[in-house]
Amino acid sequence: MDDENVLEPSVLKAWLAHVQRPRTVRMLMLTIAHLEGIDTANLKAWYDVSDDELELWFDDLEQYSLPVVIARYEGVDFAELATASGLTRQTIADWFAGLEGEPIEEAADIIARYSARQARPLLSTRESRVHYLDYQAIRDQGWAIDDDDLFEKASDAALSPEDYGRVLVEAGQTILEAVEQRGMTWPYACRGGACANCAVIVLEGDIAMPGQTVLTDHQVRVVNARLTCVGVPVTDTVKLIKNVQRLDAFEDLRLPSPMTEFST
Ligand code: FES
Repeated sequence: MDDENVLEPSVLKAWLAHVQRPRTVRMLMLTIAHLEGIDTANLKAWYDVSDDELELWFDDLEQYSLPVVIARYEGVDFAELATASGLTRQTIADWFAGLEGEPIEEAADIIARYSARQARPLLSTRESRVHYLDYQAIRDQGWAIDDDDLFEKASDAALSPEDYGRVLVEAGQTILEAVEQRGMTWPYACRGGACANCAVIVLEGDIAMPGQTVLTDHQVRVVNARLTCVGVPVTDTVKLIKNVQRLDAFEDLRLPSPMTEFST
């Protein structure tokens, strides 16, 4: 077990009071016994586990943080969440790993809601700083979306707050709600995940999109597009390009918009 994943019996005992499934209880108790020096043969006999089950459990604890392992044993379906949110499984795992910083009772409650499929994927539990840069401003400056130092160049240029800036998105807010709350102009049309007018391209961090049905797998996974009217940040920081709906990748999904279209 590496230094990052050192387990404390007190932490395992605290989780024991909040997990739901007998199998999770058994594995936590077994781990506490292991930390107290009980050998493998006795662990298997006392807790009625096979070699494979024991090996898999300790491998998981080596590889992942405790909330991720517990979430799996409690029945959270990472693949289902990835499909529903348009995020990668790694982002889902990173999000559950972030529960390590939360009080155990609250983290266990969140896991229980995901296990019971009562939470939207992914429920945002913390605020996020979203840095945005407008696609038209990139074109006007002669830059390209894949420039390495795009946001550094933008911070040095005299861009308007509509073109470049940062907005704090509160827990549970969509990005569109956050920018509108601050009186900003932001492209949109349907407001329900059914067009591409509010699309952005994510360069750093990630955004979950519960309920989006229109973006293709290619647009989500290769272009890294997200819809901000339903999009909830799941990382502490997000960097994105807004106003990308005029790109060819979104041509078929644009709707007539109440917002002013930019010129090409
Ligand atoms: S405004 Fe239509 S998907 Fe967001």
